[in-house]
Amino acid sequence: MNTEILRISDIKRDSDLILRAGELIASGGIVAIPTETVYGLGANALNPKAVAKVFEAKGRPSDNPFIVHICERRQLSELCHHVPAEAAALAERLWPGPLTLVLPRKSHIPDIVTAGLDTVGIRFPSHPIARAIIKASGVPVAAPSANLSGRPSTTSFAHTFEDLNGRVDAIVDGGDAYAGVESTVISVKKGSIRLLRPGVITLEDISQALSEQGIERCEIILDEALRRKLTADERPRAPGMKYRHYAPRAPVTAFTGAPALTAEEIRRRCGGREHMAVLCFDEYRDMFKNAVSYGSKNDMAAQAHNLFDALRRFDEMEGVEEILAQCPSDEGVGLAVANRLKKAAGFNVVEVGKEQTLFWER
Ligand code: TXA
Ligand code: MG
Repeated sequence: MNTEILRISDIKRDSDLILRAGELIASGGIVAIPTETVYGLGANALNPKAVAKVFEAKGRPSDNPFIVHICERRQLSELCHHVPAEAAALAERLWPGPLTLVLPRKSHIPDIVTAGLDTVGIRFPSHPIARAIIKASGVPVAAPSANLSGRPSTTSFAHTFEDLNGRVDAIVDGGDAYAGVESTVISVKKGSIRLLRPGVITLEDISQALSEQGIERCEIILDEALRRKLTADERPRAPGMKYRHYAPRAPVTAFTGAPALTAEEIRRRCGGREHMAVLCFDEYRDMFKNAVSYGSKNDMAAQAHNLFDALRRFDEMEGVEEILAQCPSDEGVGLAVANRLKKAAGFNVVEVGKEQTLFWER
């Protein structure tokens, strides 16, 4: 397939390219677009044939549902048959932005989009190019991350091109995605919110938004799949959580604990061996030979932004057989970074100096 490249730097000046992308989606094509989290691969969510092409281009398992992207809040009630007050409040405060609300779906959404579930994930992205293209298409846009299935999500045009050139109708070059990790996914019921995937919108952001909107009582549950690998017979609430995502080719081990201790432990385990590579915080870069750093130890936003690019770099390095990675704590955006890294490691996690952690962090 010949893939059109649409380079968009300004939504007004490049309005013809926005229209082209929108038209391709409206007519059943599939187009990779930048969003504020990662690049997405978009199709008309109401056209099952177009959505099937996305599964095929990505090599995605058919039991993993897509998020439906909208460009106006009112589309939420057009797509979901029940919107609890909690969801309406979060849409009001945190949209447009990197938050996906999983709610009961209306029946006109094709089964292929939701993988047969009776709920649908809805997101109103804030990226101006994404919003303009969704608007130009005139339809809700189903879009998973624009990587080949099993590889890290793509955060730049170059990586999107690497994975999808020749497999999709068009790729929009709109610069780097900002956040670097995918949206926060929550399922929302009256009085109860379940975190299915952490992102740069944190638990603190969610509880603050709820209280600002006058909702005082709402439990927030961290889904079990965030903490451990599910067993073969357990069914995850977000089907995507069961797959080994974001994985570089070499196996990864994640090290949690105070950064100074994890750096020391990783150095000890490397022991001058040639085929070990290290993913570390900036401060410890000089301790290792084959290392990629992904942000300062206390700058979780930078770590989120750089993580997927850093993971991809190991695939470009010669002869890497094992990757040892420093993992941040679960606080704030750290929860999203640690979750992606632990998944890349298939939950192969070493907790370093557990009892000493508090002492060392102070
Ligand atoms: O930031 C993002 O969310 C990006 C950009 C492109 O918007 N999209 C993205 O899509 O990350 P994807 O398909 O790579 O991840 C969607 C996740 C999967 O883990 C999927 O299982 C879950 O959301 N999900 C989607 N619909 C769901 C539903 N109805 N119930 C539970 N989980 C759902
Ligand atoms: Mg994905």
